[in-house]
Amino acid sequence: MHRRSDSAEARHISAAADVDIGPFRITNTNSQAQNESLKWHHEAMRLCLGGLYPCPEVVRSVLAPVVGRTKRILDIGCGNRIWALEMAQEFPHTEVWGWDRPQVQEMWTGEVPNNCRFETAPNYDFLENYEDKFDLIHMRFVAGGCTQFSKTMEDIQTSLRPGGLFILIDSTGDLLYEDGVSLVQMKSSQHPEGIRLQRLFYEVRHASVSMGFDENAMRSTLQEGMWGPDFSRLIDCGAEEVLFPIGPWARSSDPEEESSLKTVGELMKKSINMVRSGHEMVLKRLGFSERTLAAWHDEINKELYNEDLKLLLDTRVLWGRRSSGKTTISSHLPRAVQALQRKLYKGRHDGPSSPLSQTESTLGAKTYRYMRTFKSPTHWQNVTERRRRPNGFAHDPVPFVLRTTIRSRRSRSKEIS
Ligand SMILES: C[S@@+](CC[C@H](N)C(=O)[O-])C[C@H]1O[C@@H](n2cnc3c(N)ncnc32)[C@H](O)[C@@H]1O
Repeated sequence: MHRRSDSAEARHISAAADVDIGPFRITNTNSQAQNESLKWHHEAMRLCLGGLYPCPEVVRSVLAPVVGRTKRILDIGCGNRIWALEMAQEFPHTEVWGWDRPQVQEMWTGEVPNNCRFETAPNYDFLENYEDKFDLIHMRFVAGGCTQFSKTMEDIQTSLRPGGLFILIDSTGDLLYEDGVSLVQMKSSQHPEGIRLQRLFYEVRHASVSMGFDENAMRSTLQEGMWGPDFSRLIDCGAEEVLFPIGPWARSSDPEEESSLKTVGELMKKSINMVRSGHEMVLKRLGFSERTLAAWHDEINKELYNEDLKLLLDTRVLWGRRSSGKTTISSHLPRAVQALQRKLYKGRHDGPSSPLSQTESTLGAKTYRYMRTFKSPTHWQNVTERRRRPNGFAHDPVPFVLRTTIRSRRSRSKEIS
């Protein structure tokens, strides 16, 4: 089933090849800023997952060496290459491919290890030529750059070898309060007490749709997991909700955990601060006035440094393995791995989706309290359901990009509150 974005309604800006927008899909007009931001974000993600990937036992099983066959990893939208390079180091027997757009690949000129190759990918269609090619495909903070998200998801499933693993990581762009459930009220004329950063992400999301990016389909997948018809070729699916504290506000009775949480919070604050210029550029193209942008900039600055707000950014980690279909290769994990998986996940998933009290994962060697793992669609979808009944706030404001489609450019208001 293909979901359709509502981009046709709002499209009045041509898709710009030089922008990726969304909380962490940033412009590449300033490579230095992009690199810094990606490094911080990578580090925060690594701390929360306790490594480079979720479901470590599945990853290790899928990548285990097999005599006479090279295991292959693909990182789609590899950005500054950091994930691909670290994977190549961790799994030296594998071949790691990193794909990104030409203007991004040109930026990175460092040494490339023998088991790595970086290539340009002008768009996602290239995947059509790679049937049954990869043992692991990783796509992190890239999905909002898809113009045909469902098609890309289909191509990825085709490009996996039977038994191969797909990992999709992205942010819904929603901010939550400390309880990890309540959506943060966004600032608007109706809610002047709301949070401007939430409003910025909201406006940028709608701008992204208007530019032809399939943000809505991507968000639906993040919310529904890989159990639906779009992922009919995947089995052993799982999902994790990772909530990043923004700023060093998170506390713990365990000093080591607190220190890690503070590190994640600092990294995220810096990362968001860095990508904001890209967001502002996009809003400017939409017609936001300089005055509005400057006012929003100041407001968000204050929010990022206000530890009393205790904001969390909602990020989703999804995975699934390609079923064997009609091939003779088993798509199931070896029994020993399944037993280990059951042991590891005992009590860690599929419980009632209570707020953060039930979280379990690693943060270094420690439990990461803002993460929950799910192995069934019902429980995963509860995560989103709970959010749909937020703390009683009214309708969202009409996004700026939609306002401008129903007014002529000349009469359009340049100010927005
Ligand atoms: C926010 S960065 C994420 C980089 C990396 N995945 C990470 O997590 O550190 C998004 C990357 O996706 C790339 N990208 C966006 N759309 C793409 C496309 N259609 N084909 C290939 N790469 C794309 C961008 O150029 C950018 O480098």
